Amino acid sequence: MNSIWEKETVLPQYEPLKQDLKVDVAVIGGGMAGILTAYLLQKQGVNAAVLEAKTIGSGQTGKTTAKITSQHNLIYHKLVSSLGIEQAKLYAHANQEAIGMYRNLAKRCSDAVVFEEKDNILYTVQNPDAIEKEVKAMQQLDLKATFITQTELPFSIEGAVSLEGQAQFHPLEFLKEISSGLTVFEHTMVQNIEEHTVITNHGKVTANHIVIAAHYPFINVPGYYFLRQHQERSYVLALKHAQQYDGMYLGIEEPSYSFRSAGEYLLFGGASHRTGENRSGGHYDMLRKAAHQFYPNGEEAACWSAQDCMPMDHIPYIGPYAFGMEGVYVATGFQKWGMTSSMVSAMILSDLILEKANPYLPLFTPQRMHIGLSVKQAVNDTVHAVRGLAAGFMAPPRAMVEQLPKGHGGIVEVENKKFGVYKDEQGISHIVQARCTHLGCQLEWNPDDKSWECPCHGSRFDYMGHVIDNPTMEDLQYDSITEYQ
Ligand SMILES: Cc1cc2nc3c(=O)[nH]c(=O)nc-3n(C[C@H](O)[C@H](O)[C@H](O)COP(=O)(O)OP(=O)(O)OC[C@H]3O[C@@H](n4cnc5c(N)ncnc54)[C@H](O)[C@@H]3O)c2cc1C
Ligand code: FES
Repeated sequence: MNSIWEKETVLPQYEPLKQDLKVDVAVIGGGMAGILTAYLLQKQGVNAAVLEAKTIGSGQTGKTTAKITSQHNLIYHKLVSSLGIEQAKLYAHANQEAIGMYRNLAKRCSDAVVFEEKDNILYTVQNPDAIEKEVKAMQQLDLKATFITQTELPFSIEGAVSLEGQAQFHPLEFLKEISSGLTVFEHTMVQNIEEHTVITNHGKVTANHIVIAAHYPFINVPGYYFLRQHQERSYVLALKHAQQYDGMYLGIEEPSYSFRSAGEYLLFGGASHRTGENRSGGHYDMLRKAAHQFYPNGEEAACWSAQDCMPMDHIPYIGPYAFGMEGVYVATGFQKWGMTSSMVSAMILSDLILEKANPYLPLFTPQRMHIGLSVKQAVNDTVHAVRGLAAGFMAPPRAMVEQLPKGHGGIVEVENKKFGVYKDEQGISHIVQARCTHLGCQLEWNPDDKSWECPCHGSRFDYMGHVIDNPTMEDLQYDSITEYQ
């Protein structure tokens, strides 16, 4: 399902790679992180090429709500308590600098980018203490945060923190303008990296430096990013004839709703869940029900969903990919705050490549280990990974293919083997292998998006087994068996 940005924007089309190439820097991924990194490098005279498996902006960037803010949910009290004021300040300053960079770039863009200065507001309906702690932490870090109790929201709140000097924009119009003039190859899927050579489905690119900005890193070892982050999905409705907002809003507790205006639309989001854990579905409907309650005259113009990588210690991984992979860098783990995090990535990675000192690298480098913040999430992630793998061997079949009603999907057992089956409205059963092609966890059906999802690291496939979202790069085995109609 396309976002309003995807519906509204005609992006330029780029040819695939046609022959082997040599560049200073190969950037893998044409989302916000990859394009901004290539842009900052090119501005400084570096010969960079972007290699994009599909088309630019077709990943999570095309489905973001595009708030440009340093207020990444309740993060600053957590960072101050676990890492101390100086480290927390680095996080705040990196993101504030990123907003400043957007502000400057937007001045050179056309009005279509609709860059608007906004306050960002984090609200609670239950827990003013958490907000008060966050305000205190933010004020210690030079952020202009204020505790407020009155907002534009259609319900009363117990308190909110308002951060001034934040912004919102049209992410794909911005991407379009920033990418013009870059060297981009679309429909060019990177399959592997061998030392300084990037192997694609259309040839090889030799580069002194390689940036992996592919949302979720696709090289498992070394790096082990699959042990350090999972993915979470969220859903968005674009509503016409609903309220217009001056600020950008997010709730801190479930049900946590996100609000921002975008032209004639209100973008109303929420209903998050870990990717691969939505067997019963109903997430769009949850949002629709709330939207109807808040805006009885609201009219749904579009709905979509997207996902992002959630790092263990709540700090993105930006820097060298891994020991033993010299000249390879990564940008991932943006925890649904990929607008500023993409700019921070571009700042850090372009400095690294140009051998300039960057004050933020020690905080974001993937080689860090902020144990205190990581442990709880590490345990959670391990439990999920193990549960997923075990389910492949032990779980009883939840439904038999004959019993599946039309329009439904699920795991079934046929001749002692587990398969994922989706029966379409015509009664054709689309059958895929039930094990993820990344590291073998059992897939789950997401009825809201009609996709197969992996609870371990968030790979997604359509009902015919084609990869939608990485880390996996391999489609599922597929067959359509009509005899089960
Ligand atoms: C519902 C939702 C709302 C959000 N709202 C906000 C918000 O308001 N503000 C905010 O800051 N953040 C927000 N985010 C987060 C933000 O959208 C993402 O963090 C950001 O878009 C990620 O950008 P990216 O460049 O890392 O990834 P992507 O945009 O996914 O780009 C990665 C690109 O790499 C390509 N690729 C992958 N594998 C390969 C390969 N092997 N070879 C070549 N190319 C490859 C993909 O095709 C893709 O185009 C939101 C996220 C969600 C889920
Ligand atoms: S995404 Fe890693 S096993 Fe499925």
